[in-house]
Amino acid sequence: MTQRPYVIDQMISAKSIAARVEELAAAIAAEFAGTDKLVVVGLLRGSFVFIADLVRELDLPVEVDFLEASSYDNAMESSREVRILKDLRGQIEGRDVLIVEDIIDTGYTLSHVRHLLASRAPRKLRTIALLDKPTRRETDIRADWTGFEIPDEFVVGYGIDFAQRNRNLPYIGKVRFTPDGDHLAPEA
Ligand code: IMP
Ligand code: MG
Repeated sequence: MTQRPYVIDQMISAKSIAARVEELAAAIAAEFAGTDKLVVVGLLRGSFVFIADLVRELDLPVEVDFLEASSYDNAMESSREVRILKDLRGQIEGRDVLIVEDIIDTGYTLSHVRHLLASRAPRKLRTIALLDKPTRRETDIRADWTGFEIPDEFVVGYGIDFAQRNRNLPYIGKVRFTPDGDHLAPEA
C-alpha cells in the first residue's frame, strides 16, 4: 500500500513529556504507597515508550507485564470491536494493578481491558493514559490519570504509530497530509 505523503507537526515536546511523566509517577507512587508490588500492565504496542519512562520514575516495587488488544488494523479509525491478541503472563488476583494506555480515543480499548482485568479480582485497579482525546469518546471511561488532553488530531511519536511508522519519534506530533509531490514524512 502506498502511503499518502504527510508531515509531522510537533505538538508536545520530549521535555514536556518528561516533566509530565515525573508528575504522574509521583501521583501513582502516592496512590500505591506501601504496596508489596505494583503490576504495571502496558497495552502493546503504543505504550512501550511511556511505560519504559514511567516505571523508571516510579519509586515502588514494580512488575511489568503486557497485554495486546486489537485496535486500528493499520487504519486511522477505531474498529470498536476489541479482541485480546496477547494476554498477561502473570496472575493479578489480589494484586495492585496499573493499566497503561498510550491514547484514549473512542475509549473502547481501555474500557474492554479494564473490565477484563477487573473480572480477575485485583486488589486495586487503576488506569493511566498518556494522551486523551475527550471529544472522540463513545464510552464513559476516563483514566484515573491523564498525561495530556489533546484535540481531535491523529498523532504519532513516543511509541504511537501511524501504520507502524513514527513510533521512535521522541516527541508527540500530529499528522498533516500534504498534496502529492510535496515533502515526504521524515523517516523517523
Ligand atoms: P480507542 O479504543 O478508540 O480508545 O482507541 C485506542 C487505541 O487507538 C490507542 O491505543 C491507539 O493505539 C489507537 N489510537 C487512537 N488515536 C490514535 C492516534 O491519534 N494515533 C495513533 N493511534 C491512535
Ligand atoms: Mg493502542
